Amino acid sequence: MNNKTGTNKKINPVLLEKPVKVSKDHYLLKIDIENDNSHPGQFANIRITNNSDPLIRRPFSIFDHNKNIIEIVIKNAGRGTDFIINQFQPGNIDIIAPLGSGFNLCENKNVLLAGGGVGNAPLYYLAKELKKKNNSITYLFASRSAEYIYFQDQYSVLADKFLISTDDGTSGFKGLAGNVVEQLFATEKYDKVYICGPFPMMRSISEFIKTHETSYEVSLENYFGCGIGLCSGCTVETTEGTIRACIKGPVFDGRIINWDSLK
Ligand SMILES: Cc1cc2nc3c(=O)[nH]c(=O)nc-3n(C[C@H](O)[C@H](O)[C@H](O)COP(=O)(O)OP(=O)(O)OC[C@H]3O[C@@H](n4cnc5c(N)ncnc54)[C@H](O)[C@@H]3O)c2cc1C
Ligand code: FES
Repeated sequence: MNNKTGTNKKINPVLLEKPVKVSKDHYLLKIDIENDNSHPGQFANIRITNNSDPLIRRPFSIFDHNKNIIEIVIKNAGRGTDFIINQFQPGNIDIIAPLGSGFNLCENKNVLLAGGGVGNAPLYYLAKELKKKNNSITYLFASRSAEYIYFQDQYSVLADKFLISTDDGTSGFKGLAGNVVEQLFATEKYDKVYICGPFPMMRSISEFIKTHETSYEVSLENYFGCGIGLCSGCTVETTEGTIRACIKGPVFDGRIINWDSLK
C-alpha cells in the first residue's frame, strides 16, 4: 500500500473544541497537529489519560485533514472512547499522527467506495483526494440505521453517485452493504474498490470481488496495541505471511487477507 508511513510525534497538538456530536454515538474531534502532511487511510493514536489506565493508546482513522488540522470521527465503543467523548476538553492532547500506510490513489478511474458505520470515516478523506484526481466516485454509506449516519451532505457532494444502505431500512436500501455492492457490479464496471467497515461486511464484499478482476483495498480495524510496530498485538495472517497491521497497514490489498485470522 501507499508507503507514506508516518512517525511524527507532535510536541504540542491541541484539541480545538470539545467533541461535537455528529450522529447517534458518533462525535467529531478537531485537532491541530502542527503538521499538514498525512495521507488518506493513515491513523492517529490517542492517549486517553495521563495515568496508566487505560494503558494503551486507541487508534482512529483520519477523517479529514486541512492544513494543520486533522478531524476524527469517534464512535462510543467502550471505556476509552467514552472518556474521550465525555471528558476531553479543548487544550493539549497526547496524540501520535499520522501513522501507518494509506490508500493508493488512482487517477481518472471509475471507483467504488463502500463504508460501514464508523468505517466510513477514512473514506471521506479518501473520497476528497480521489475527487481531486478526477475519478468518478460511487459512494456507498452503509449503516445499521439512519440515526447513525453522519455528514451525509458532505459525503454526497463528493460522490458522482451516492447511495445509502441501512440494516433496518430506515434510510436508503434495506439490507447489507454486500448485497448493494453485488447489485452495483451487475450494471457497472469499477476499476477499483475501497472498503472499510466491520469485518463481516469487508469479508463478504471481499469474497464477492475476489471472483472479479477488480482490484480492491481494505482498511482493517483490528485490535491494535502500541500502534507503532513494537508489540505484535495487531498481526494479520496474509498470503504474504503474518503482518503487523499498524505499520504495513491498516490499508491492504484485499486479496492477500486471510479473513479467518480476523474473526
Ligand atoms: C486502524 C484503526 C482505525 C480505527 N478508526 C476508527 C475511527 O475512525 N473511529 C472510531 O470510532 N473507531 C476507530 N477504530 C476502532 C477504535 O480504535 C476502537 O473502537 C477503540 O479503540 C475502542 O476503545 P475503547 O476503550 O472505547 O473500547 P474498549 O472498552 O477497550 O473495547 C471495546 C471494543 O473496542 C475494541 N478495542 C479496544 N481497544 C482497541 C484498540 N486498541 N484497537 C482496536 N480496537 C480496540 C475492543 O476489541 C472491543 O471490541 C479504529 C481501529 C483501528 C485499528
Ligand atoms: S499494534 Fe503493536 S505492533 Fe502493531
